[in-house]
Amino acid sequence: MYSDKLIDHFRNPRNMGRMDDPDGVGKVGNPACGDVMYVYIKVKDDRIEDIKFETFGCAAAIGTSSIITEMAKGRTLEEAKKISKKDVAEEAENLPPIKMHCSVLAADGLHAAIEDYEKKKRGEGDGE
Ligand code: FES
Repeated sequence: MYSDKLIDHFRNPRNMGRMDDPDGVGKVGNPACGDVMYVYIKVKDDRIEDIKFETFGCAAAIGTSSIITEMAKGRTLEEAKKISKKDVAEEAENLPPIKMHCSVLAADGLHAAIEDYEKKKRGEGDGE
């Protein structure tokens, strides 16, 4: 039911863990299932220099979290903002329909981290 690529990302997640002193943090919960994801980013010259995630969720959520960190790393903030849940699902190569909502978590987490960074940059607090 899952692609080999998604299973590989679930078994060997890339960029998993907490980041010390991140420039932006996104915390999102999935209303469909209650799973939670944190995304941490380091930004340099408007580019995502480093990214990490912690996902307390299902295999598809962990796999797509790992996939989105690889998609976003090295991208400009504007490029990363355009990564959609559809892009994540495509990159995961065939997400079963009942698991589509899991890719939402990854996309929302990334966008929330960028938003948090931009808020901090504008001096609007820590976004919590
Ligand atoms: Fe919760 Fe997949 S079942 S994110």
